[in-house]
Amino acid sequence: MSKRIVITGASRGIGNETSKRLAELGHQVIAISRSKDLLNQLKDEYPSNIEPLALDITDSSAGETISQYLSDNSVKIDGLIHNAGVLINKPFSEQTRSDWQKQFEVNLMAPALLTKDLHEFFNSGSHIITISSMGGYQGSSKFPGLSVYSATKGGLSILTECIATEFSDKNISCNSLCLGAVQTEMLEQAFPGIEAPVEPEEIAEYISEFILNGHKFYNGQILPVTLGDPG
Ligand SMILES: NC(=O)c1ccc[n+]([C@@H]2O[C@H](COP(=O)([O-])OP(=O)(O)OC[C@H]3O[C@@H](n4cnc5c(N)ncnc54)[C@H](OP(=O)(O)O)[C@@H]3O)[C@@H](O)[C@H]2O)c1
Repeated sequence: MSKRIVITGASRGIGNETSKRLAELGHQVIAISRSKDLLNQLKDEYPSNIEPLALDITDSSAGETISQYLSDNSVKIDGLIHNAGVLINKPFSEQTRSDWQKQFEVNLMAPALLTKDLHEFFNSGSHIITISSMGGYQGSSKFPGLSVYSATKGGLSILTECIATEFSDKNISCNSLCLGAVQTEMLEQAFPGIEAPVEPEEIAEYISEFILNGHKFYNGQILPVTLGDPG
């Protein structure tokens, strides 16, 4: 059965490949990011399955815009993938207030507020997943330069546990995937020259399978998805 899945950060990297994979499997994907042109390219590739929505998830109107879209089209959602993220690689002592704000808003506040704003649109049996990082996984190796990013991802994982508890009476599941390194623009900008063991297409296949079926086996879980490398 075809499902409707909202994904943030669909213009590039992991979110882009996951959107394509879900579209190829015949699902409806509401693809969100700020880059209208890149979303339109995605739509051109999968005209029947991609519904592009260009917006900044940190805008105070983001939740309202998505809700309005769902209301106007009289549709509900079966899945939400909080994938959009920002990483500013800098020593802890050099991270500015603005660096903190940017990473917290994109990586933690926006997923929290969007989940709240969209809660009425979830079908029973829906699955929400947060794309966290091994840097935000308790007890993992920590790396210089990633303190703020990792703190936001740690918060995102704990938020996942809380949402799973709060939404359990609505039959909505929520899980967090803590990824290790994946070869994307984010990784290449933060760590020039690094070679990750995983390609975006590979992790997209895993995330697509997980959003569709993972909630049959997990709820409120923070799951490391890594070969032991940083993320
Ligand atoms: N790559 C890795 O090694 C790795 C490891 C662990 C975890 N992760 C996590 O995986 C997720 C995807 O990462 P990636 O490597 O694919 O990153 P990426 O290539 O840099 O893509 C990031 C995506 O987030 C979107 N985005 C950023 N700010 C946004 C905003 N304010 N509003 C809407 N969309 C926004 C970007 O779209 P626009 O610029 O068009 O808005 C883009 O589509 C992130 O949460 C990241 O932390 C990645």
